Amino acid sequence: MRLQQVRARLLHREEGGRYVHLVFAMEEASWRILPGQFVQLQVRDAEQYDPFLDRPFSVFWTEPGRLGLLVLPRGRGTRWLVSRDPGTEVSLIGPLGQPWPRFPRVGLVGGGSGIAPVVHYLRTYPDTVAWVRLGFRGDIPAFLPKRIPASSPVEFWSETDAPGARRGRVTDAPLPLDDGVQILACGPPGMLTALKEILPSTRYYASFEEVMGCGFGICMGCLTPRAGGGHFRTCREGPLFRADQVDWTRLTQDVR
Ligand SMILES: Cc1cc2nc3c(=O)[nH]c(=O)nc-3n(C[C@H](O)[C@H](O)[C@H](O)COP(=O)(O)OP(=O)(O)OC[C@H]3O[C@@H](n4cnc5c(N)ncnc54)[C@H](O)[C@@H]3O)c2cc1C
Ligand code: FES
Repeated sequence: MRLQQVRARLLHREEGGRYVHLVFAMEEASWRILPGQFVQLQVRDAEQYDPFLDRPFSVFWTEPGRLGLLVLPRGRGTRWLVSRDPGTEVSLIGPLGQPWPRFPRVGLVGGGSGIAPVVHYLRTYPDTVAWVRLGFRGDIPAFLPKRIPASSPVEFWSETDAPGARRGRVTDAPLPLDDGVQILACGPPGMLTALKEILPSTRYYASFEEVMGCGFGICMGCLTPRAGGGHFRTCREGPLFRADQVDWTRLTQDVR
């Protein structure tokens, strides 16, 4: 699918737990963004150049002419973004990255800002999803259940006592591996590494939220170490990789 740069107009903003849900109108966009793909968003005023680099965000949900993002404010760019008023326009480039594969039967794991692509996958391919485990550090955002298809097999986990969630981390109970289920996960590096320790590496796919520069394969600012040597460009060949294709030792020691 051809890359497009469009204007995105903020329509709506709501807060929930540590997250902010942003809804944009994108009348000019003619593309379909598939689960696992992301967009690069300008995170500064139009007449400013700081922060200079756009920031990558997974798609949380999409409808024709509309895009939902789930933002976990971290630094200057994300804080700027979540404090915009409706009506603000930003430049957006997409679709970026490779879509997550559509397997006959999957288990999905999401944590932190990695909740967004997991929900997009669940909304797009609900019939393939055997189970979903979503992990939080605090309360479950009130807007989240409305974005999840009814009667989806979703379990919420939280590290605090949150209503509607089991207490603990997503890795605290065994993950069902029956019937050849493939596991797709996105979340903080610690969660992805913990999953790698307990899952068969040929059935586990991890999506990395690496710090990025260009977002489309030019700058080499987003490298994930490849098993056997060399690197992948996370933005171009990823962001999802099968666990046995990644050199996890270099991932945790050299690159970050
Ligand atoms: C493919 C992809 C999809 C993403 N999807 C989402 C999403 O749906 N929602 C969302 O909220 N975020 C998402 N992110 C992460 C988001 O891009 C970063 O949080 C953002 O770039 C940080 O920008 P900043 O200006 O706020 O922080 P900066 O000022 O650049 O950095 C502030 C602090 O945050 C840390 N930081 C920066 N980037 C990351 C990162 N990727 N992960 C962890 N810590 C980081 C820095 O090391 C620093 O300590 C995604 C990243 C990638 C690569
Ligand atoms: S962010 Fe530039 S090559 Fe990936």
